Amino acid sequence: MTLITRKFFNSAAVLAFAALAFGSSAQAEGNLTVYCSVQEEWCQSMVNEFQKATGITVAMTRKSSGETFAQVKAESANPKGDVWWGGTGDPHLQAAEEGLTEAYESPMLAKLHPWAVKQHETGKGATVGIYLGALGYGYNSELLEQKKIAAPACWADLIKPEFKGEVQIANPNSSGTAYTFLATMVQILGEEEAFKYMKALDGNINQYTKSGAAPAQAAARGETLVGIAFQHDVITPTITSNAPIKNVSPCEGTGFEVGSMSIIKGAPNLDNAKKWYDWALTPEAQKLGAASNSYQNPSNSEAPIPREAPKMADIKLIDYDFAKFGSSAERKRLLSRWDAEIGAK
Ligand code: G6P
Repeated sequence: MTLITRKFFNSAAVLAFAALAFGSSAQAEGNLTVYCSVQEEWCQSMVNEFQKATGITVAMTRKSSGETFAQVKAESANPKGDVWWGGTGDPHLQAAEEGLTEAYESPMLAKLHPWAVKQHETGKGATVGIYLGALGYGYNSELLEQKKIAAPACWADLIKPEFKGEVQIANPNSSGTAYTFLATMVQILGEEEAFKYMKALDGNINQYTKSGAAPAQAAARGETLVGIAFQHDVITPTITSNAPIKNVSPCEGTGFEVGSMSIIKGAPNLDNAKKWYDWALTPEAQKLGAASNSYQNPSNSEAPIPREAPKMADIKLIDYDFAKFGSSAERKRLLSRWDAEIGAK
């Protein structure tokens, strides 16, 4: 190399270093890959606001909770994602137990509701609660009237003969919502009775969807009479499009989710993953849920509970055992039993 070319390369290197050190472009703040398991609109708004706040460039993929768990597991030898944000807590707990996610003590933990911190403790620090939501179902009130069926109020109503072909729910392998339903019925009825119920319900199901909120949206559009989903997903279409869907909090009581967030073990952008994690637990970030038509209860005690959110105090909630139903052995066992007895028709 001649003196001149060496000088040129040296000064180019200095310039490149300066750009990195002083953050002369957004690029310099680096990247982050987020796997998002809530509704697309909320995922997008989180990404946009985080990019604005930090200059970090985010690549986001939206997939259901069970699907994301499977992806994180499949990629574990060569992780591609940094943060898994949202989705039901059980598969996040399973990921924590299987060593697929990384323990992190965020300074924001002190601001969280006890149920969110409990999730963190159950997952030995490798996950945390970001929102709370109760399971239920919605029915299309116009279709109900046309079909002259009495309004359902209980889980037991959904296995009645008049609901044949009228009920939709997601598949519990892909969807955390549907797994929450399976675990809820096991906790309410005991496992044997719960599988009898699932079998009877199967006779009334018109479709098992991939994503948990899809059945509520289908009921809102009149494509199914009943959609089993989280109650906040049932109320969204009434707010966004005044759809004729009525929310039911089942009379026997119901389960709930602690929607969660985890840092993926071996995250290529670990520092930025921690920045997302801390930011996602602030009241400002958590307000983006309601602003994107997702009406869960946020985990930061200073974040407002959306006015539209189903009132948790009015819902008969079961004492959902997250440690048990989020354990690797139990989730695997229940899903394979569901596959063998219900799914494999
Ligand atoms: C919706 C709900 C979330 C829930 C998620 C689970 O987005 O609003 O509260 O955590 O579904 O999705 P999945 O498709 O896994 O059931």
